Amino acid sequence: MNLSEEIFKLKKEKNCVILSHFYQTADIQNIADFVGDSLQLSQIAANTTADIILFCGVNFMAETAKILSPNKKVLLPEPKAGCSLADSCNAEDLKIFLKNYPNHTVVSYVNTSVGVKALTDICCTSSNAVKIIESLPKNEKIVFLPDRNLGSYIKSITKRNDIVIWDGACHVHEEFSVEKIIELKQKYPAAKVLAHPECKKTVLILADKIGSTAALLEFSKKDECKQFIVATESGILHQMQISSPQKTFIPAPPIDSTCGCNDCKFMKMITLEKVYNTLKNETPEIIIDSDLIEKAKKSILRMLEISQ
Ligand code: 13P
Ligand code: SF4
Repeated sequence: MNLSEEIFKLKKEKNCVILSHFYQTADIQNIADFVGDSLQLSQIAANTTADIILFCGVNFMAETAKILSPNKKVLLPEPKAGCSLADSCNAEDLKIFLKNYPNHTVVSYVNTSVGVKALTDICCTSSNAVKIIESLPKNEKIVFLPDRNLGSYIKSITKRNDIVIWDGACHVHEEFSVEKIIELKQKYPAAKVLAHPECKKTVLILADKIGSTAALLEFSKKDECKQFIVATESGILHQMQISSPQKTFIPAPPIDSTCGCNDCKFMKMITLEKVYNTLKNETPEIIIDSDLIEKAKKSILRMLEISQ
């Protein structure tokens, strides 16, 4: 039996569900029960009847699954799979920052630690951020964190110019080169540009469609265009190519072409071998203090209620 077959056998025996984010490598996406964006995966984690959730993604995603299903065993094959964006805002610094903004509602992107979620009123993901902000009364004062690019994108869409934005960013999405995207557009004049809202404004201006990973995938399926330049992490190209084999997907290049920046190094830490060992040994497991779970849960549940 090869590794994938061993994983299929084990997950059935153990009543385990394998969730994979779109940014995982193709071999991981292929063995997953569900492949999705961060919102879809958190919804599945909240409703699964499996005994074990094995999360092929990064730490904050597995933590969100644990917060939503505290009685289940949640496994993450690589504990070092973090997120540069989540790391750009820690709970201690946030506590100090928020002292300057009393009476503000704290809206946090789900790419945050449990400690930050415990200080948050309502979470959002890239697929529901605009909806979450628009669900709040017009005169409500808002602090948005940690992504400055998503924050300024939401500000421009909702026209709520007084939103206070934390100065954080993702190392992958900040690195796309405007010049190289323009060069690609000259080479492929019919191509449409798809961009994740974590990209800089200078990239978003070039985009035909801005959206979460799931929204970009959906657009690429439905749109009549045959060529797309994709400004988000490269893993998404796998599902785009499966859904539309006749179309061409071109990854948007990073500024420094030697750095492999359109790969998220954290997402790519998950390998089939690690998935197999994790499932076999039921470790590394996500463990979170129950008090912290209760504090962080409210902000995620509020998001899920609005996103239904
Ligand atoms: P999605 O919410 O689109 O899945 O994005 C998550 C993420 O980490 C983007 O970098
Ligand atoms: Fe975090 Fe960026 Fe990786 Fe997404 S792509 S998980 S935001 S580091």
